[in-house]
Amino acid sequence: MKSILFFLFIYHLIINSICDVPTCDSQPFCKEIRDGTQKSSFTVNEYTLIDGVLVLNATNNLGIFFEMKIFMLEGGMIRVKLEDPSNPRYDLKTVLNQEPNLRMGKIDFESRDYLIFSGIGGEEEIHVYFNPLELEVYKLIKNTYEMILKINDNQMLNFNVEDSNKAVSLDFNFIHAQVAYGIPQHAEQLSLQNTINGEDKNPYRLFNNDFCCYPIGTKEALYGSIPVLYAHGTELTSGVFWLNSAQTFVDINPNNTLKSLFISQTGSLDFFVLTGPNLKETILQYTSLTGSAPLPPLFSLGHHQSRWSYMSQEDALGVVEEMDRNDFPFDVIWLDIDYLQDYKIFTWNLETFPNPIGMQEEIGRSGRKLVLIIDPHVKREEGYFVFDVATENGYFVMDKNGDDFQGACWPGKSSWFDFLNPSAALYYSSLFTTFANTTDIVHIWNDMNEPSVFALSTNTMPDDNIHYGGVLHEEVHNIYGFSQTVNTHHGLLERYNHKKRPFVLTRSHFAGNQRFAAVWTGDNIASWEHLKISIPMCLTLAISGVSNCGADVGGFVGDVTEELLQRWYQTGAWLPFFRAHSSMYVERREPYLFNEDVQKRIRNAIRERYYHLPLWYTLFFEHEKFLEPVIRPLSYHYSDDVNTLEMDDQFLVGRDVLVHPITDEDVGDVKIYLPGGVNEFWYDIVNEYLYYGVGYETVKVDLDSLPVFYRGGSILARLEEHRASSQFMHDDSYTVYVFLDKNNYAEGNLYFDDYESFDYLENKFKYFKLIYNNIGGLIINDVDDEGEFDRLFKIAKLIVYRHPASVTKNYSEVNVNGASYKVEHVNDYRFEVNNLNVTIGDDFQMRFY
Ligand SMILES: *[C@@H]1O[C@H](CO)[C@@H](O)[C@H](O)[C@H]1NC(C)=O
Ligand SMILES: *[C@@H]1O[C@H](CO)[C@@H](O)[C@H](O)[C@H]1NC(C)=O
Ligand SMILES: *[C@@H]1O[C@H](CO)[C@@H](O)[C@H](O)[C@H]1NC(C)=O
Ligand SMILES: *[C@@H]1O[C@H](CO)[C@@H](O)[C@H](O)[C@H]1NC(C)=O
Ligand SMILES: *[C@@H]1O[C@H](CO)[C@@H](O)[C@H](O)[C@H]1NC(C)=O
Repeated sequence: MKSILFFLFIYHLIINSICDVPTCDSQPFCKEIRDGTQKSSFTVNEYTLIDGVLVLNATNNLGIFFEMKIFMLEGGMIRVKLEDPSNPRYDLKTVLNQEPNLRMGKIDFESRDYLIFSGIGGEEEIHVYFNPLELEVYKLIKNTYEMILKINDNQMLNFNVEDSNKAVSLDFNFIHAQVAYGIPQHAEQLSLQNTINGEDKNPYRLFNNDFCCYPIGTKEALYGSIPVLYAHGTELTSGVFWLNSAQTFVDINPNNTLKSLFISQTGSLDFFVLTGPNLKETILQYTSLTGSAPLPPLFSLGHHQSRWSYMSQEDALGVVEEMDRNDFPFDVIWLDIDYLQDYKIFTWNLETFPNPIGMQEEIGRSGRKLVLIIDPHVKREEGYFVFDVATENGYFVMDKNGDDFQGACWPGKSSWFDFLNPSAALYYSSLFTTFANTTDIVHIWNDMNEPSVFALSTNTMPDDNIHYGGVLHEEVHNIYGFSQTVNTHHGLLERYNHKKRPFVLTRSHFAGNQRFAAVWTGDNIASWEHLKISIPMCLTLAISGVSNCGADVGGFVGDVTEELLQRWYQTGAWLPFFRAHSSMYVERREPYLFNEDVQKRIRNAIRERYYHLPLWYTLFFEHEKFLEPVIRPLSYHYSDDVNTLEMDDQFLVGRDVLVHPITDEDVGDVKIYLPGGVNEFWYDIVNEYLYYGVGYETVKVDLDSLPVFYRGGSILARLEEHRASSQFMHDDSYTVYVFLDKNNYAEGNLYFDDYESFDYLENKFKYFKLIYNNIGGLIINDVDDEGEFDRLFKIAKLIVYRHPASVTKNYSEVNVNGASYKVEHVNDYRFEVNNLNVTIGDDFQMRFY
């Protein structure tokens, strides 16, 4: 069996790499539009205002009538839809978090050539030119309306209505942009390449594709597609969200202005203009449309141990035991496809896993969870209950003849759930409740959901497959994985009676996927360049709504060197989703298999992650509430600093932690960029050093180093007891780190709750603001007085970092609730208060004397 699997896997890789990946040039719908062979020209005949929405009646050069609707939205956004009223396209409304709030529109000016349309109370206006149809978007910046975007300036608007060609396209010319970000998923830098004047003149492709061992720096499509493009400049930033789930190509030409062109194979012409005016606002606008991720359960922010596959229950339990014996903290053990009976989803291979419940009880007792893989394909085998029910009820995607589509995947001959069919979706999600031999530590991993179909040249199901309601696969291809995760998430909610926050990981993804699942970067390679690219890949996802991202630590394919593995743990510990995973065909590499030196460094990297769990958890809470990404490119906070435009070898975790992972072999020093100017301080607590934010610094590193800098002006609480998993940290005491700015001031937040239920939505949480100043000392306020959670905030230790020159007085003691503690001056940079035994329920002050 294993050799058949190996054959399938390798065959799949070969098919994937030798078959020419379709490009724009190889597909007429795209080539003809891109090279200008096909050019429609649209004119506006008449217009009306209906309920505050501007409705344009337009004709293309073939005399076909279309309706264009322009919606002015709250929050600095504009939506534009072009529809062929006689042939509506698939409505992607489930992708949006909710229908965006409309501003009442008004026509401010009209003439024979154009009109000006704006929303009441808004700061945006749109100029609509009639012949040819063109749009210009203006935004109020410092009291004047400035043009930020021209739409259809290059006359690339097309909306084809023949059965053989339903392509839609449009060009956007962003006036102020210097770089382009977004449109994941590609194995690409943060700042996108020029597809017109660059070396590789192919446009970026969005078409969810199982692409093992993908090359770096190409425009080829990977597992997911998020059609949001940011046009970023140091003066102004704006963007566009192209709501279309068909195969799409995007041209990028940044050169003072950013000219971009979207061409989709079919689907709707429906897009949102995000008017910024800076990078942060633009990202928040996009996230307000597609939603933030709900707060993940704490365990899922810990360290995950996985492999394709732990082949038996002894194997899995052995790993748990060895990890414990060797003191490697971790929260989750993963089972890949080999726990299944003949790769049939929702079954167990009872030969190799004879006692699944007993195994899960043991994993649970060790403080761990179990993640099980569930793919979207179903083995075609009569008598297999999932196959029988799905077949009887018509729950599978159909081929062009209306028969259940059949293709090959892990189980051999398979069919695929049609998640667009509400009954199929409901049945699929109900399977999580009835899943035999599972306990309450189970969470889910959705893989192969592009969907991956073996042995077909397209690598996925044919375009002319038919979904529920007669929708062609080509139109909804990029939401196939998305719709699986919606129903996995829903299934787990039901399974746990809405009492427990589900964790779902998905490979394929689309816009809005953050509401249902975390994402990883798929089948990467154990190489330095794959380590390096994991940072921009996750940064790009983070600014595209998906903060919870990680790459397989160690690389999925290929044997890893010890040095690379250590660097990968050090890097992975600072990306939101932190999972070690590897293919079946590489040497085992659980961290306890290495020598003491290597073990020590890996252990330290993992511990670094656990020390900062309160930071991660607080940031994810704030992401849910305020929509800010958890990890951020430097340009997010330093958007007017031209040096940050293309920077993606370092990043910010929240606002205050700057991380520069080492992603090259054998380096003795590394160039780090510290932003913010002379008034911004960055503290290195390993080398006890303070840097000003004045640009590049060369920092010495060795194998133990992972350069991390804390911003002056920030406070963060860490949990520093060494525990086997996060479950044992719930009641631990915090060490509070204060990093003073040049005014001897600092502030930060700490959030906690019960770490697993939805009670936090009913005010059962604590959210503290911590402030330090020279007058009051440390002041802690309960920000949300409504919070009714009764776990206390315990502080064991306080560490204050400061600029040595700023010290005018050394305190000798600190008074807390009448008790007095000694202040220890460790050196010019740092003083500490140790052995604190402080518990904080409400507001609190710690005064220094
Ligand atoms: C657009 O206007 C033309 C006449 O100018 C009319 O015949 C047609 O029905 C209108 N179409 C729509 C979609 O309103
Ligand atoms: C930038 O645009 C100018 C003129 O608009 C052109 O001459 C130049 O070649 C362009 N450069 C790149 C790199 O595209
Ligand atoms: C559950 O596991 C037990 C062994 O512990 C086995 O006897 C039983 O058949 C399993 N049930 C299913 C539905 O797989
Ligand atoms: C404060 O204590 C540090 C460490 O002992 C010492 O170096 C420094 O001179 C002291 N400063 C003042 C103003 O007393
Ligand atoms: C800390 O204070 C609590 C009461 O607030 C007390 O019960 C406990 O023994 C103290 N712990 C130590 C280590 O002093």
